[in-house]
Amino acid sequence: LARGAKEPDLAGRHVVVSAGGTREPLDPVRFLGNRSSGKQGYALARTAAARGARVTLIAANAALPDPAGVDVVPVGTALELREAVLRASADADAVVMAAAVADFRPAAYATGKIKKKDDQEPEPIALVRNPDILAEISAHRARPGQVVVGFAAETDDVLANGRAKLKRKGCDFLVVNEVGERKTFGAEDNEAVVLGADGGETPIPHGPKEGLADTVWDLVAERLG
Ligand code: CTP
Ligand code: CA
Repeated sequence: LARGAKEPDLAGRHVVVSAGGTREPLDPVRFLGNRSSGKQGYALARTAAARGARVTLIAANAALPDPAGVDVVPVGTALELREAVLRASADADAVVMAAAVADFRPAAYATGKIKKKDDQEPEPIALVRNPDILAEISAHRARPGQVVVGFAAETDDVLANGRAKLKRKGCDFLVVNEVGERKTFGAEDNEAVVLGADGGETPIPHGPKEGLADTVWDLVAERLG
């Protein structure tokens, strides 16, 4: 093994990682989106592959090169992401939801470009909820012992919000990080705490997204036994 390389402790495992951010179309030229770069999810996919796992990366609008040896499934919307994650998770040992999933989508899609009218204020955009994919895969594990990990970016009461969210989602681990104007989104580095459903708390010091990814896989590998 190369210096600093991890043991192939995920050999024989299939892991699913979602990455990037969904885009919810309003019309053929516009969408509602978010600032997720996909870097953390891609780092998770790369590090899992380096540790011997078979990796399926569900990639939502990330402008990043396909990691070598990883099966990449491109998606656009939250509904497409849900379909792809559910399909790939059927035989997965672990599912990590690093993607930023839009909570809402436009209630209607205009098949033609929405035009402004000279003498009128714009119509409000009506939204409907998207399904909660993390809660769904946590509640209906495709195989016994499947490990499910979520991510949460919080701005206030980071740990309290994280604990409540972990419980609400029903996943095994929730990686919580604090976001601000210049924190996390698009950055090369990340800092977080991993909350475990068993009450565990694993702080991850500020550092490259690969380091955070390796800590997540350490916890997943330990849980898988
Ligand atoms: N998630 C999901 N499906 C959704 C929304 C979120 O699977 N419709 C997943 C994300 O991929 C992430 C986790 O849930 O792993 C937490 O996302 P977050 O947006 O923090 O959770 P929400 O329940 O949407 O809470 P909030 O109201 O704070 O946005
Ligand atoms: Ca959300």
